[in-house]
Amino acid sequence: SWKIPVMLVIGYLLGSIPSGVLIGKIFYGKDVRDYGSGNMGTTNTFRVLGKKAGIIVLLMDSLKGTLAALLPYFFHSSANPMLIALSAIIGHVFPIFAGFKGGKAVATSAGALLVYNWKFFLLAWAIFLITILLTSMVSMASMVGFTIITIVSFFFGDPVLIGVAVVLTIFVFIRHWKNIERIKNGTENMVPFGLGYWL
Ligand code: G3P
Repeated sequence: SWKIPVMLVIGYLLGSIPSGVLIGKIFYGKDVRDYGSGNMGTTNTFRVLGKKAGIIVLLMDSLKGTLAALLPYFFHSSANPMLIALSAIIGHVFPIFAGFKGGKAVATSAGALLVYNWKFFLLAWAIFLITILLTSMVSMASMVGFTIITIVSFFFGDPVLIGVAVVLTIFVFIRHWKNIERIKNGTENMVPFGLGYWL
């Protein structure tokens, strides 16, 4: 029906709102993409602008995924929430409002997962946090999180979820290629806690 393309466009526009860039420019006079890893996501906002800005960007970027995944509900459509949320995730990574130079898909995907299945959401967060505590690397935690959630999705029996999870995981690895290079070279940025940092 007409609803699907409309939801996809709204999702994409929603995902394109560059939270990190906006918060940085409006409240700190800085474009986070000019500092640190050059990413506009939660991690680099924490790194460049600090805790308060980081938490706000995490919430805003997650909310984009959550709202996009809720669109089928608002539109009384039976479309799979994760499929519609994919458009917001693509918007987040290639934002029309920020020169198509966006983030790495992590927070927005997590926000969408909350709508799809809150147990999955909690599992993803748990894997993510445990991996950070072990490695002190957010990039590693993101990649491990997507990989494990994708494996788990195969046992869940929803082919759309599996498809979206596989596509997203490939996508996340591609977006993290610089991080993968740094991990291989032993130069990846670490958060100042967890085993990786202390060892
Ligand atoms: O939030 C994305 C994270 O996985 C990596 O971010 O800035 O360390 O490249 P960053």
